[in-house]
Amino acid sequence: MYKAAVLTVSDRSFQGQRPDGAGPLVASLLEKAGYQILETAVVPDEQPDIEAALLRLSDQVHAALVVTTGGTGFSPRDVTPEATLAVCQRLTPGIPEAMRAASLAITPRAMLSRGAAGIRGGTLIVNLPGSPKAARENLEAILSTLAHGLEMLLGGPSDCYVL
Ligand code: MTE
Repeated sequence: MYKAAVLTVSDRSFQGQRPDGAGPLVASLLEKAGYQILETAVVPDEQPDIEAALLRLSDQVHAALVVTTGGTGFSPRDVTPEATLAVCQRLTPGIPEAMRAASLAITPRAMLSRGAAGIRGGTLIVNLPGSPKAARENLEAILSTLAHGLEMLLGGPSDCYVL
């Protein structure tokens, strides 16, 4: 069972103006897939706040997987990918490629998510869009394959040749 954390990035949810719909949904989908949720948190769309939360969840909480939701679009305050790229040491472009490929079969607006993903130490960080619908669709596109990536990252059994 891998340890995971969910970070909601939203000015309105942080200020209590809108309930956080996507964060609890993502946490429940991860739990159903066998992840242990260590923490859920909400931060505003401020790059320093997002980076600080990602650093804490990676380096102190030691989540194997950190999933963010929100802040991946084109609005001037959408800076979750920039915060993610700033803290990651290695990028995992196949993950957002897979999410956008699957999502484009659902809506052309999938091309508007700038979500990124990458590795910091023993933590994989993945950006999802912010609406509950988009977050679910993107997560479901990658969920069954994430565990194999985490196996490789964390040094468990990871035989790519048997699949
Ligand atoms: N991906 C899926 N699968 N389904 C969606 O409805 N919405 C898109 C896109 N990705 C969507 C999606 C839209 S409309 C936007 S603006 C971007 O995600 C960015 O969303 P965010 O700013 O909430 O992160």
